[in-house]
Amino acid sequence: MDVQGVRAVYRRYARHYDFYFGKVFHQGRKLAIDQMGIRPGERVLEVGVGTGLSLPEYPDGVHLTGIDLSPEMIKMAQTRVEDLELPDVTLLEMDASAMDFSDASFDHVVAMYVLSVAPEPERVIAEMRRVCKPGGRLYIVNHFRNPNPVISTFERAISPLSRLLGFRPDFALDEFVERNDLDVVETRPVNLFGYWTLLTTARDPVAHSTPSADLERTVRSH
Ligand SMILES: C[S@@+](CC[C@H](N)C(=O)[O-])C[C@H]1O[C@@H](n2cnc3c(N)ncnc32)[C@H](O)[C@@H]1O
Repeated sequence: MDVQGVRAVYRRYARHYDFYFGKVFHQGRKLAIDQMGIRPGERVLEVGVGTGLSLPEYPDGVHLTGIDLSPEMIKMAQTRVEDLELPDVTLLEMDASAMDFSDASFDHVVAMYVLSVAPEPERVIAEMRRVCKPGGRLYIVNHFRNPNPVISTFERAISPLSRLLGFRPDFALDEFVERNDLDVVETRPVNLFGYWTLLTTARDPVAHSTPSADLERTVRSH
């Protein structure tokens, strides 16, 4: 799906999104926010903030920025912020694969239920890294291909329908981690049947040992 496709899908979903995806995805949102251990005054970026269902879960004192491709979803989020009088929330229409923020702008960066939908998930990860402060972590809640062979066969079979469904059902966790050189800190099953995963990764790519480091280790061990 391209950017226009995502916008078209969420233009259709926006008004009914909370009804279908509110409660069912709630645990993952709550756990991701708890996992961040946000301290007062920290700056958090939520990528693909959608209708802002997560916003009431953030602790007091956070400076929160939410971005989304879909103007209709952002509008719903803005209404929530105003209705609940949530302080210090900035919502912007922006593509997470090409963000306007400077490097190292945020203490924590989170994407909940976004990567299976985003047209270029690798570029989103690269941008999440860039705007996160060194030493920070990225938090991702997503459905990854089910390890159960029957379910994963079904997920592969329906993946050509991803444009219609609005997400990729057969996103494989191990391939995703490898392709993006993610240094995984923790994975945790969340939501119904643990069908989704809360993935916590270091901001920086996993440190691969270089041929010279390998050589040095070999030399030292003799
Ligand atoms: C399934 S919804 C998740 C919304 C919200 N995070 C939640 O917890 O319900 C996916 C959202 O990601 C947004 N999205 C997809 N690709 C994006 C991108 N490249 N940049 C910004 N937002 C994106 C969509 O517009 C949509 O609002």
